[in-house]
Amino acid sequence: MVKVGIVVGSIRAGSFSGRVAKALINLLPEDYEATYLQIDHLPLYNQDSDENSPQEYVDFREVVAAQDAFIFVTPEHNRSIPAALKNALDVASRPYGDNKWGGKPALIASQSPGVISGFGANHHLRQMLTFLDVPVVQQPEVYLAGTPELFGENGEFLQEGTDVFLQTAIDKFVDLVSKYD
Ligand code: FNR
Repeated sequence: MVKVGIVVGSIRAGSFSGRVAKALINLLPEDYEATYLQIDHLPLYNQDSDENSPQEYVDFREVVAAQDAFIFVTPEHNRSIPAALKNALDVASRPYGDNKWGGKPALIASQSPGVISGFGANHHLRQMLTFLDVPVVQQPEVYLAGTPELFGENGEFLQEGTDVFLQTAIDKFVDLVSKYD
């Protein structure tokens, strides 16, 4: 079983990113086990707590460490990733020298109800994951625009072609994961 941590950058109930995440999970092979990584309860990261971390940090780092790979689905907030996602990345990247994300492959998908598809968020996240030593699927890049018209509430596909495109992305992800087994 390959354990995949699903990190949704939106903490909003009814999030469109959540719909995209459901669609991606449905396309994973049977021997992949998806686990949502909860990020909305994490206190704002403070380096002072590295010596004596809150329980939420301890638990989150443990769950990140237990994954073999990650799928990030993020909206864009002011041309970057949402603060909650940045906080989660920071929490599990520390204490210094104990980065729990490192060496595990990932797929990034960005989405927006608008037309720019979270391009800025996608690239900022890609840059952060480079620093965190997370190998990311290069192609296809997954930018999804107009998501309310693309996905239903349970991640069902509303338009022809999206499923084929996302399956290609998942296949490339699975291929990348196999190189890190
Ligand atoms: C946004 N939104 C947004 N959209 C976008 O395409 N580019 C952007 O830079 C921003 N900036 C932004 C900032 C803040 C603070 C909010 C709350 C929203 C709109 C955003 O795409 C929209 O709210 C999506 O629905 C967010 O994704 P979820 O929460 O549905 O997954």
